[in-house]
Amino acid sequence: MDQLLPTEIIEAGGAFPEALAACGDLDALLRLKGAYIGREGSHAARLMDLLKTAPKEQKRDLGAAINALKQQWEEGLKARQAELETAKKTRAAQASQWDPTLPPPVPVRGALHPLNRLMDRLVDVFRPLGFHVEEGPEVETEAHNFDGLNIPEDHPAKASSDTFYLAAHPELLLRTHTSPVQVRTLLRVAPELAKRGGIRFLAPGRVYRKDEIDPTHSPMFHQVEGMLVGHGIGMQHLKGTLEYALRALFGPHTEIRLRPSYFPFVEPGCEVDVSCPLCAAKGCRVCKGSGWVEILGAGLIHPNVLAYAGIDPAEWSGWAFGMGVERMAMMLSQTPDLRLFFENDQRFLQAMGGLD
Ligand code: DAH
Repeated sequence: MDQLLPTEIIEAGGAFPEALAACGDLDALLRLKGAYIGREGSHAARLMDLLKTAPKEQKRDLGAAINALKQQWEEGLKARQAELETAKKTRAAQASQWDPTLPPPVPVRGALHPLNRLMDRLVDVFRPLGFHVEEGPEVETEAHNFDGLNIPEDHPAKASSDTFYLAAHPELLLRTHTSPVQVRTLLRVAPELAKRGGIRFLAPGRVYRKDEIDPTHSPMFHQVEGMLVGHGIGMQHLKGTLEYALRALFGPHTEIRLRPSYFPFVEPGCEVDVSCPLCAAKGCRVCKGSGWVEILGAGLIHPNVLAYAGIDPAEWSGWAFGMGVERMAMMLSQTPDLRLFFENDQRFLQAMGGLD
């Protein structure tokens, strides 16, 4: 008998029980009803047309098949309608049992990202020392990112293998560090530097390098830059300030250690370690048994950096530092994989609530 029916009707018949079960409310059921047994355009209507044009000798069998199908659909729809109506009534009854004396549901509260909280903390530590926040664009010019920082033309950091250049604007790039904020800020304040008596600021923000992503590298990460310009500034001021700030961050017993290092925009330059805050410098996995963790690069501002911004290096001097935020966050929270900070898994972010 079935061979008398067109395939799409057979398929529609086969899909019916599932479609029926999927109807979650009376509106959906009404739509299904229209599609199967509606007066026009429905499967049943098509079948009736078919019956009209069928050869005489087929009419009986075809008619029986059609009736069986239609009956099956009608009964199914009716039964489901009863089910849905009962469910609707139950829901309405339950709703009227609403108890206004129950405590309200507690809303889920959002929170700042742990990396932002850490940067905010750094800013809070430096603010009482007279530091404010400066910002710069993430799309930078080669001049601000490299030239103004005394970075020579042939420095490897300028290579296209290390830096994201903008194809349509070869002089523009994604800044590789927050140090260009030094150049921008010095250029801006140079004319009024004497009147201000110098400048001190932090510059937190995103930076970009052409790195493959792995547990300790990401093509986007965060740095906080710090800079101070004044009269007669030397390494002692840098060391004293960093000792104060790093103790505020890691605890009052923190020791710091300066190791000579090279960065083109400082002279002398150094890397700064803190005594491991996790094992009180006894030696652990985080400090690799050494008791010290490298935390930032710093130094006395190179005279060429001051001169580029129109500031006389014979009169002014200063220091600068730059630190990696993820590195510090990973250490403080003992997170072994940097990618966790960017995946935004709420379980991780919630666990990071302990960061500050
Ligand atoms: N810009 C350097 C980097 O990204 C970090 C740095 C080192 C910044 C020494 C400084 C500094 O201001 O004095 O690796």
